[in-house]
Amino acid sequence: MNLKGRLPAIFVIGFLIIGGAILASRFMSPPETAPAIAVKVPTLTQVAQRGKESFSKNCAACHGENASGTQKGPPLVHDIYNPGHHADGAFLLATRRGVRQHHWPFGNMPPQAHVTDAEVKAITRYVRELQTANGIFYRQHKM
Ligand code: HEC
Repeated sequence: MNLKGRLPAIFVIGFLIIGGAILASRFMSPPETAPAIAVKVPTLTQVAQRGKESFSKNCAACHGENASGTQKGPPLVHDIYNPGHHADGAFLLATRRGVRQHHWPFGNMPPQAHVTDAEVKAITRYVRELQTANGIFYRQHKM
C-alpha cells in the first residue's frame, strides 16, 4: 500500500492520540498539596510560631501550608475569614464541631478533637498574623 492508502489510518491514529491527550489533561488535576493562593509569611510572634507548628500538623493537610488552601480545603488567608466575618470563636467552633460545607465545594470539615483549646488559640493568632501581612483586615459583616 502506498502512503495515500494509509492516510485515513494515520488520521484516525492522530485523532486518538490528540483526543487521549485532551482527556488526560482534563482528569489530571494539580497535586493535592498545591497551594490555592500565594501567601506572604511575616515575622511571627512567639504565639503565632507555636500556632504555625500546630497548624502544619493538624490543619495544613486541607488548608495548606501557611493557610494557602489545597484541593481539599479553602485558604484561611482569604477575605471571607477576616475577623469581622469569622471572629476568633469560629476557629474554636470549627475545631470542636467541624464545619458543614457552605462557602466552598470541598465538603464538610470533620471535627479536630485532638487539638487543644490552647493550640486553637495559637493557630488563630497565626492565621490572623498571616491575614494582616496579606492585606486582610477586620471588615464589618453585612448580610
Ligand atoms: C479534612 C480537611 C480539613 C481539616 C483537617 C481542617 N479543615 Fe478547616 N475546613 C475544611 C473545609 C472543607 C472548610 C470549608 C467549609 C465550607 O465553608 O464550605 C473548612 C473551614 C474552616 C473554617 C471556617 C469555619 C466557618 O465558620 O466557616 C475554619 C475557621 C477552619 N476550617 C479552621 C480549621 C483549623 C483551625 C483546622 C486545624 C485544627 C482545620 N480547619 C482543619 C477542611 C478541613
